[in-house]
Amino acid sequence: RNEISIGLLGLGTVGSGVATILQQHQEDLRHKLGVQVAIKKVLIKDTTKERLSPLDSSIFTTDIEEVINDPSLDIIVEVMGGMKGAKQAIENALRAGKQVVTANKDVMAEHGHELLKLADEKKCDLFYEASVAGGIPIIRTLEDGLASDRIAGLMGIVNGTTNFILTKMKQENMSYEEALVKATELGFAEADPSSDVDGWDAARKMVILSSLAFSTEVRLEDVLVRGMKEIQAGDLQIAEGFGYTIKMVGSSNKDEDGIEVAVEPILLPNLHPLASVNNEFNAVYIHGEAVGETMLYGPGAGSLPTATSVVSDIIAACRNLLLEVNGKRLHAAQHDLVIKEDKS
Ligand code: NDP
Ligand code: HSE
Repeated sequence: RNEISIGLLGLGTVGSGVATILQQHQEDLRHKLGVQVAIKKVLIKDTTKERLSPLDSSIFTTDIEEVINDPSLDIIVEVMGGMKGAKQAIENALRAGKQVVTANKDVMAEHGHELLKLADEKKCDLFYEASVAGGIPIIRTLEDGLASDRIAGLMGIVNGTTNFILTKMKQENMSYEEALVKATELGFAEADPSSDVDGWDAARKMVILSSLAFSTEVRLEDVLVRGMKEIQAGDLQIAEGFGYTIKMVGSSNKDEDGIEVAVEPILLPNLHPLASVNNEFNAVYIHGEAVGETMLYGPGAGSLPTATSVVSDIIAACRNLLLEVNGKRLHAAQHDLVIKEDKS
């Protein structure tokens, strides 16, 4: 094999970042993997849209089946967003024996368990690093880096849009509406930004993180969710006067009574490490029994940062394709949860 071919579902904020990184880092990737990695087909919706992507429009299609059922494609990258169509696309791609990479937290929070099981059955990989905290490698940290520890709790700013809005309202006197428009223009907000400001985007990310941290299936309906819409600029100034910052924070804690997950605006003392996380940046603060406290920080949204995580997943998928032995892929850390469950 001297080439690995990719089908890209979606060429918006994240998809165009993926195309850019794959093109700009072509030589490095060939050096790392020993093969050429190339996007061969791209699903779009609007054929009249002007695009800045480096890809030739001859590989664009509006027919999803044409991408998923193309036997020459090794990896399907789902960055189209949404729920039903995206879930179906991931499922069909796995059934067709493809490696799959997704940035879709909506699908992974609600159907991740079932899809990871399917991936395992089909001996394929399903990677989803970009689904939480954009450019921060938090999924791999929980799956691999901290696999040795027992996690007691997590606390995180995992939505870039709301953090951007709160920062602009506090530091630049921007109105909530103005800041939301700006976050949308910059590509941070969801297609329907109510999922950002009402806390559901962060809740879905906390479901994914909590399921990994505690090796169990946490459900969205069990998360306490409060949005940020009632916060006024005046509230931010008053809090500051007392040495506090208001942030939308997700928390997840485990004790003898079970796991509690919440997303809500809270008052953080200015000295707390999460209080200085501003704009679209995210951070996840992890409390492990052995490691103690550790925090990951970085850009939580945006084209190139998110695409960095997607391309890292593409590299992992390529490595597994290249390492395939007797039809079994060697690295399958993300299936830990499914395997543990099957054994119990
Ligand atoms: P965009 O809306 O910018 O892009 C979506 C792309 O998918 C567009 O190219 C669109 O086509 C295409 N598309 C959508 N639906 C269809 C369809 N039914 N048929 C064909 N093409 C379709 O979304 P983003 O790039 O911002 O987000 C993609 C995913 O990544 C989402 O799941 C999002 O939650 C997640 N994500 C986004 C981040 C960000 O910072 N934006 C960060 C982390 C994750 P067309 O261009 O023709 O309209
Ligand atoms: N809308 C999301 C956010 C994109 O603002 O964090 C990244 O998942």
